[in-house]
Amino acid sequence: MPWRARQGESADAYRVWLSEIMLQQTTVAAVIPYFERFIARFPTVEALADAPADAVMEAWAGLGYYARARNLHACAKQVAAAGSFVGDLDTLRALPGVGVYTAAAVGSIAFGLPVVPVDGNVERIVARIYGIDTPLPGAKPAIAKAAARLGDNDAARSRPADFTQALFDLGATICTPRAPACCLCPWRQSCRAHALGDPGRLPVKPPKKPRPVRHGAQFWLQDTNDRVLVRRRPPKGLLGGMLEFPGTDWRDQPWGRAEAIGCAPQIAAWRLAGHAVHVFTHFEVRLDVYAAEVALIEAEGAMLPILELDRAALPTVMRRCAHVATLAGSKMGFTSY
Ligand code: ADE
Repeated sequence: MPWRARQGESADAYRVWLSEIMLQQTTVAAVIPYFERFIARFPTVEALADAPADAVMEAWAGLGYYARARNLHACAKQVAAAGSFVGDLDTLRALPGVGVYTAAAVGSIAFGLPVVPVDGNVERIVARIYGIDTPLPGAKPAIAKAAARLGDNDAARSRPADFTQALFDLGATICTPRAPACCLCPWRQSCRAHALGDPGRLPVKPPKKPRPVRHGAQFWLQDTNDRVLVRRRPPKGLLGGMLEFPGTDWRDQPWGRAEAIGCAPQIAAWRLAGHAVHVFTHFEVRLDVYAAEVALIEAEGAMLPILELDRAALPTVMRRCAHVATLAGSKMGFTSY
């Protein structure tokens, strides 16, 4: 993992902080290429602080939950103005986008503070070792207490960064959510869940609520100069500040064709290109993608060369729409394809 220090070296707080913010979004494997591109583009916290907001959003695009990218930038500015990251839990905690977990992770990994950050991995390990069977999220306070107890020994206190990272690795490779590999686990003998014979049962999860489904339509309008119409979303809220193709609201009921097209730029013969589905944390959206080609566009918004879409601050849901529209466009004989 490119943010980790080699043996005998101490970790760079900027890299640790950046990796922790990214790892809240997705898996280690998915984060690595983003992390490397981000570091190549913004090698220091000062470089990130000085970058235009657009460049930061572009580098983040695809990781999702764009409020994090805005907080990331705000945090870099604050740290650069202060001179550097400070290795103190309260100071870390006061930074934009840094909660109890991130402060503890950066504190222990980059500054050697003797604290145990509790993420999903650590929650699972601790619930099992101590046999905590209260359902989540109610078990969180008991798990936090037990995690502190797990780190309260000379070995953990003398190497907090190693202890924290070892917990993450144990959770990722051995103490996995399903079918944990207890025969390989160094904690096997003191683990309550192992002794009880069904470690995969813990931690007890609350019953899953079904994810609501929303419906919408997006409009792919390209011109004969290989450009496509985009607009910027409002700065706050879902996908704030990112680019999108014009579209309808996303609502509980599906949109009929005529009704949807009533919301589109009124200058083209729209054809249904296909459907795109994207799953957000709290809902799923199903989009009808309409596509059209015109010689010259007289619509509000900005024209972006189609070849630049890859580098633009386009969220994943819109990339899916672009994929559907370009595939259909090639069949409909649009000029670009
Ligand atoms: N998950 C959160 N932080 C991590 C880290 N530093 N290494 C591996 N997985 C993690």
